[in-house]
Amino acid sequence: MGERRIQHSLVTHDEHDDRHYGAVHVPVYDSSLFTFPSVAKMDRADEEGSYTYSRGNNPTVNELERKLALLEGGERARCFATGMGAISAAVLSVVRAGDHIVCVNQVYGPAKRLMGEYLQRYGVETDFVDGSDLMAIEAAIRPNTKLLYLESPSSLLFELQNLKACAELARRQGIRTIIDNTWATPCYQNPLKYGIDMVVHSLTKYAGGHSDAMGGVVIGSEQLIGELDRNELVLLGAVMQPQVAALVVRGLRTLPLRMERHQNGAMAVAAYLASLPFLDRVRYPGLPSHPQHQLAEEQMSGYGGLLSFEAGLDREKLIRFIDQLTYFRIGFSWGGYESLVSLQERIVDPPGRNVPVVRLYIGLEEPGDLIRDLTAAFQSAGFHD
Ligand SMILES: Cc1ncc(COP(=O)(O)O)c(C=O)c1O
Repeated sequence: MGERRIQHSLVTHDEHDDRHYGAVHVPVYDSSLFTFPSVAKMDRADEEGSYTYSRGNNPTVNELERKLALLEGGERARCFATGMGAISAAVLSVVRAGDHIVCVNQVYGPAKRLMGEYLQRYGVETDFVDGSDLMAIEAAIRPNTKLLYLESPSSLLFELQNLKACAELARRQGIRTIIDNTWATPCYQNPLKYGIDMVVHSLTKYAGGHSDAMGGVVIGSEQLIGELDRNELVLLGAVMQPQVAALVVRGLRTLPLRMERHQNGAMAVAAYLASLPFLDRVRYPGLPSHPQHQLAEEQMSGYGGLLSFEAGLDREKLIRFIDQLTYFRIGFSWGGYESLVSLQERIVDPPGRNVPVVRLYIGLEEPGDLIRDLTAAFQSAGFHD
């Protein structure tokens, strides 16, 4: 509770700042470059910490980075144009040709392709393992393993990894750890305190919070983020625009408040879904029936708005259900104000018999309205007790 109060102040309170004429919200420095009154002054730009060019540093983007580092308890943060920009930069900052990655198998799809397919071109191999099984992670480690990539909870089946145990295992073997912490946000999970090296977020989700901006961030130690800053940020150049940074700073002001609301709504919807006898599996780490609920309680201080369920193999029936929903709009993202639904699948062995999974994102609407919407859609799609 105490920790949460600090977070509220971190996002709502800015000190008076004469550099901005006392402006209460950080101004948008929408300038690609910064000029100098003399060559001598330009020559001293680095030592004086002056801004020169916005692909490297921009005051508005830096302000967002300062806040995100504080929220995650990291020394430094660097922002990117998207979450994938942040993930690619973080991964590339660790691996070299000939290296090996161990990655959890429920990881976000494009991150899986980056490590499992794309990086093969550069001689980097990846093994995907069941992240809930520490022994499977340990067994996958090779002498050339340089990175353990985590996502906890994952964003379709909500599988968790034991962050402290993973960090200790990796440190013992000199392996770097990266986690995608987008689901829990810095409000509800701070992986750096368990010894994870770098945290990535898609800011497109909860941090932006209004489905009108894309962004990403990597947070970690001065040393690791410094290296990434000199190389992947400036060389690949997928940097965040200052206009977007100001939108995300604005989003952060209400992040703790919105997360409470998403959590309460998702808890109510998850409990309702869990009470329906015609649903097979309702997956939400906040439910006591979640197989890793105990671990979730230990390493997270709250829950997000994303959950999923299964209801047999009849895809057409699920499509009828989804098409009947009025509050839930059909779409893939999450983290904004609006509730969303998408039909995805759980991959099973043998291939070809994948199980349809409905993913719901609980926005800021009244939970009662959402439950009424779901009830009506289940009925008209032919789901009965
Ligand atoms: C868990 C997770 N991580 C990362 C990303 C990538 O973020 P972005 O779309 O901002 O590149 C997403 C996007 O859906 C996501 O769901």
